[in-house]
Amino acid sequence: MAGHIPEPFIDDLMNRTDIVEVVGARLQLKKSGSNHHALCPFHTEKTPSFTVSADKQFYHCFGCGAHGTAIRFLMEYERLSFREAVEQLARQAGMELPKEARQHVDPGSRVLYELLDRASAQYGRWLRQHDERQRAVDYLRGRGLSGEIAARYGVGYAPPGWDNLLREFGQDGELVRAGLAIRKDSGSIYDRFRDRVMFPIRDRRGRTVGFGGRVLDDGEPKYLNSPETPVFHKGRELYGLYECLQVDRKPAEILVVEGYMDVVALAQHGFPNAVATLGTATTTQQVDRLFQTCRDVVFCFDGDRAGRQAAWRALESALPAMRDDRQARFLFLPEGEDPDSLVRELGSDGFGKVLGDALLLSELLFRELSADADLRTVDGRARFTERVAPLLARIPPGVLRDMLAEELARRAGVQREHVETAIAGRHQVPIDASPPLATRPGAGVGQRRNSVRVAVALLLQRPSLAALVDDSRQLRQLELPGVDLLAQLLEILGRNPHLSTGALLERFHGSEHETALWKLASWEHLVPESGMENEFLDCIRKLETLIAEQRLQYLHHRLEAGELTAEEHREWLTLLQARHS
Ligand code: UTP
Ligand code: MN
Repeated sequence: MAGHIPEPFIDDLMNRTDIVEVVGARLQLKKSGSNHHALCPFHTEKTPSFTVSADKQFYHCFGCGAHGTAIRFLMEYERLSFREAVEQLARQAGMELPKEARQHVDPGSRVLYELLDRASAQYGRWLRQHDERQRAVDYLRGRGLSGEIAARYGVGYAPPGWDNLLREFGQDGELVRAGLAIRKDSGSIYDRFRDRVMFPIRDRRGRTVGFGGRVLDDGEPKYLNSPETPVFHKGRELYGLYECLQVDRKPAEILVVEGYMDVVALAQHGFPNAVATLGTATTTQQVDRLFQTCRDVVFCFDGDRAGRQAAWRALESALPAMRDDRQARFLFLPEGEDPDSLVRELGSDGFGKVLGDALLLSELLFRELSADADLRTVDGRARFTERVAPLLARIPPGVLRDMLAEELARRAGVQREHVETAIAGRHQVPIDASPPLATRPGAGVGQRRNSVRVAVALLLQRPSLAALVDDSRQLRQLELPGVDLLAQLLEILGRNPHLSTGALLERFHGSEHETALWKLASWEHLVPESGMENEFLDCIRKLETLIAEQRLQYLHHRLEAGELTAEEHREWLTLLQARHS
């Protein structure tokens, strides 16, 4: 299989990933007992039956039966492929995919990547060589761009005319699929980008995935962007991130601005660490991606009303990405300025000073929300609390959230407990949201209790039990349904003692045992926590007895046939004595 991701990598990834964190970044989770509950994202419901187990590292919905590990959750929730989900979790865990797993690109996409890279090179050549290049060159000079920076960002030029690229490339259908050409109703095709300065948008591996093209005069639209294609998703990419990381693998901070020209102009003035969203609101996915590369993200916005609204939306999408070691700040620029104009006006030092004025996320949050709250009245304070709490609830639990809760309590003049209730109460999860599995109709039904099955179930509940078994291989001698599976589990855990339930289940994805394992993994509370070890050992002992029985029968058979060797005779006697002791 091309680009197959090796099993040990998945094991490792599962061990370094916390499903509660993954789900918690996307759903409102409420803790009760050792589990977390939420309204199921996969079906409509009023009371939460979606359960996430931190111990077992999987989720299960009693309502619709959805279940899975962190990988499965991302696949379903964000509509990612297995590979994309693994990649995303790996990035969050700071892990790099092993080499053999990396090159996997589906052939259809590979054509597009190649085409887009070639188009980018072609636009670059046209900026240097085309007959009509001078206007574009003058335009870029007029905006203060050096050849060096233009080259770093691969800036190019699409000359006037309807078929420059078409004539150069010929591959009609693919050009349309790549977003580089447009098909008319009549079926004929023409170049999408004409007489524009071209900004290639590169993904984090440096592959061109799309373009932004700017007019040279004040024509409309000012910027034309590639449409969404199989390789270009605006909510995922950030213009300039690749180029930023080329200059500095680990930037201390990253500036998020609105425009292509802002990114390029900042680079020109010594800020190679600016990125732009692609004409859309910042997504949590983008913020997450930024925080994977640096700890401090500074969002720059216009000081006008639209800018404040955009800042608020960015704040909201940053909330689920706020871990304790991450800092988001918000900078409001003077009316009528953008980073491009400001850095040119103030120079690098001046702009650097302005960056220091950025507000912390907490400052912006309280500033905006207290703007029209009357904190002198009890009523106003209650309402203020009600408004801030749901936002705090979207921040993953941790020091930052605690500090903000404290700050909210202080500002609103209410008890901290009251704030906590407001944060938690928002989801209105009844405390006893979901009765234990065993009391649910259907749970555990039809699963006869036998030693093999119980042992497998217990192992899934608590994989560390495997350490209690010395020799799993001899189990394979038993001719009982499920014994192979039990032995296989023990062998896997023997080699990887720290696998979680989720990691273990992930190992069996797509295997014949998958369904059975999920059932057993959810087969809960039949054995109390404290009794697990004894129960497990009891099962293993029973199985060992069975092995001895089977062996005895075999030896007895040989004895009757007169075929028993001296050594087998000794073994037979030992087994017999053991049976009677
Ligand atoms: P702005 O209108 O603020 O442009 O759009 P700008 O970046 O300052 O551009 P210059 O300085 O006039 O060259 C900000 C961003 O919004 C998107 C682009 O991503 C642009 O960089 N946009 C804007 C479009 O996609 N289409 C448009 O027509 C305008
Ligand atoms: Mn501008």
